[in-house]
Amino acid sequence: MQIGSLTLRNPTALAPMAGLSDVPFRTIAWRMGAGYMVSEMVSSKPELWETGKSRLRRVPVPGADPVAVQIAGTDPHVMADAARRHVQDGVQVIDINFGCPAKKVCRKAAGSALLGDLDLLARIVAAVAHAVPVPVTVKTRTGLEPGDDLGVQAGLMAAANGAQMIVMHGRSRACRFKGGVDFMPVNRLVESLDASIPVLVNGDIRCRQDAERALRESGAAGVMVGRAAIGRPWLFAELAGQALPDKNAQWQIVVEHVQSMHEFYGTTAAVGIVRKHVIAYLQELGCAALTSQFLALSCAASQIAWLQQCAAADLGNAISINRRVAPALQAA
Ligand SMILES: Cc1cc2nc3c(=O)[nH]c(=O)nc-3n(C[C@H](O)[C@H](O)[C@H](O)COP(=O)(O)O)c2cc1C
Repeated sequence: MQIGSLTLRNPTALAPMAGLSDVPFRTIAWRMGAGYMVSEMVSSKPELWETGKSRLRRVPVPGADPVAVQIAGTDPHVMADAARRHVQDGVQVIDINFGCPAKKVCRKAAGSALLGDLDLLARIVAAVAHAVPVPVTVKTRTGLEPGDDLGVQAGLMAAANGAQMIVMHGRSRACRFKGGVDFMPVNRLVESLDASIPVLVNGDIRCRQDAERALRESGAAGVMVGRAAIGRPWLFAELAGQALPDKNAQWQIVVEHVQSMHEFYGTTAAVGIVRKHVIAYLQELGCAALTSQFLALSCAASQIAWLQQCAAADLGNAISINRRVAPALQAA
């Protein structure tokens, strides 16, 4: 699949998820076979450029390409300046967020709120596309409300103003993350766009069958997967039809992931940040009952020791994990 002149190694993308799809997670997703990844949303405001959060969100994933950064904002000039700065830093794709329903973002009429002002949306895309020599893409939803078709209009206007790929989440802004996904608007967009502009379909894709259904119903060129990859990054291997890592390798991924988060954020900050990933991994590995034990750990070293013991107990399978891990925890 192409985005402008760039070729993706496969059309299975990891969705941007603020607070979850950071560099440590994207590193693993890439290793597991994701074909395309976008940074977590970065504000376009110059005064937020040097905050710790923005700096960490701008770090590229070693070895992964193309490097794509998602920007959010409402002012076409500010967005264009932000895009220029990212490209000066080596970014190869600028993605614009027109999908986020979060109040923090929508209060400033950014994200999915821009579906209510298609003229401004078009001006943002045009300003960014004129400002940078790299492909510009947009991520949107089906509309503000179910059935309003604003997402399709937004996708068409974005393409007419220079966007070279559109991602559509099959829910409206009002639906947030609830209710079923509707891939029909994605299909209308695919049918109405020039074939040179690929569309990625997004929403509730949890396995290969889901991906096949989403592609069939939407006619999209590829899929974008978000929440289902949390705690299960080997989903990308499944989607590519490759062998899944065995249980031993899965536990190794968990430990490596948590270690790399400790390094990336620093051990003090990371102790809390790793929790949502570990909760998802424990659920996926059949150890959800042990979650409260992990949440009680207050330092990085004890988190790693606990996970290693948990892995050994689970793999040894000789006695219940609870009985083997609990005494080890007391000693940690
Ligand atoms: C915690 C969280 C954070 C998200 N952050 C972003 C973001 O920064 N930018 C964006 O475009 N979408 C964001 N999304 C939306 C996802 O990219 C995706 O569109 C949505 O989760 C639906 O896909 P899924 O069902 O595969 O998770 C976020 C979603 C979640 C759950």
